[in-house]
Amino acid sequence: MLSGIRPTGRMHLGQYHGVLKNWVRLQHEYDCMFFVADWHALTTHYENPQVIEESIWEMVIDWLAAGVNPGSATLFIQSHVPEHAELHLLLSMITPLSWVERVPSYKDLVAKSKDRDLATYGFLGYPVLQSADILIYQAGKVPVGADQVPHVEMTREIARRFNHIYGKTPGFQEMAEEAIKKLGRRNAKMYRELRRDYLQHGKRDSLEKAQALILEQQNVSLGDRDRLLGYLEGGGKVILPEPEALLTNVSIMPGLDGKKMSKSYNNTITLREDPDSVEKKIRTMTTDPARVKRNDPGDPDKCPVFALHDIYSDEETKSWVREGCTTAGIGCIDCKKPLIEKVLAEQQPMRERAVQYEENPDLVKSIVAEGCERARTIARATLEEVRSAMGLDYR
Ligand code: TRP
Ligand code: SF4
Repeated sequence: MLSGIRPTGRMHLGQYHGVLKNWVRLQHEYDCMFFVADWHALTTHYENPQVIEESIWEMVIDWLAAGVNPGSATLFIQSHVPEHAELHLLLSMITPLSWVERVPSYKDLVAKSKDRDLATYGFLGYPVLQSADILIYQAGKVPVGADQVPHVEMTREIARRFNHIYGKTPGFQEMAEEAIKKLGRRNAKMYRELRRDYLQHGKRDSLEKAQALILEQQNVSLGDRDRLLGYLEGGGKVILPEPEALLTNVSIMPGLDGKKMSKSYNNTITLREDPDSVEKKIRTMTTDPARVKRNDPGDPDKCPVFALHDIYSDEETKSWVREGCTTAGIGCIDCKKPLIEKVLAEQQPMRERAVQYEENPDLVKSIVAEGCERARTIARATLEEVRSAMGLDYR
């Protein structure tokens, strides 16, 4: 499992609920690699890269504070694993221009970011770089929000195209057909049917059944096993497996102004923000605009404060708010009080966990250095396979 975040500022509570909490859960279930996507940040922030440098270490501390455990997950920095860049280059050779131009976020973002010139070669390659990030670890699962799903989809297309072009070794098909015969009549028939269901009708469960069928065979050689698995997905060997997006549960956290919490709206509460500042921000945050005076009743469904209660408060508190707000029984300050307490209580253990790292930056650097080492070992191995598949292993 692999995921990355762009270092463009401090992590905020929206990212905690939307991303980091998932990471913390997933790190016990999968071999997880989490990285700081500094090159991706550079595609949009090339004119003011200081923010990247400032954010990198704070961001790693935020992850550790949130409970990401360097004993279970591998943490690293993208640019410290230069193999990503080489794979990006190699993948760019086979990526049709129409694929990158068609990514939904692309034209949108270029048009929206008028203050930045994003009509660059680097920014066009953003999803190809992301594909390299994923494929270099042969990641099976990529936990992302809905906005990133098209990028994972493109990664799958690039992997498929790569395997199609470079996965064919001479005589592969004949050898695969020989391997099928060795399965015995019944299994060979089943294998062929499942393969056809997948290749002609795109039935994913047939692919899975066929893979299981191969894996449960006792007396198939390793070479034949790989051939049979590769043949299932087309004509060749699978060099770069296709990843799957793991859609993280999208709790859209409202920001202080009611819009989605996001750095670009400047409406965030950061993960380890000072308690006084948190209190002040919530105390002054937007409420139902219809509630001008204390005696005006309000509508919680039109109030961003209530949207926060929805995330933080129990049913009892929420019905107390509903009742009190609609009858003008409570004031907005009363309403915000339990919320402030909940947010502060959530942040408290994070602040505590962060202290040892804030006081000892070398500790953070050594965690990342170790993660980079491990990441590079995997990345190098994939890159060797890729070079050799592309015929670039001449000496
Ligand atoms: N593009 C992602 C984002 O903006 C960050 C990212 C870069 C990423 N490389 C990745 C996420 C690889 C998952 C996997 O959020
Ligand atoms: Fe919003 Fe609470 Fe005020 Fe109602 S009482 S308007 S829910 S802050």
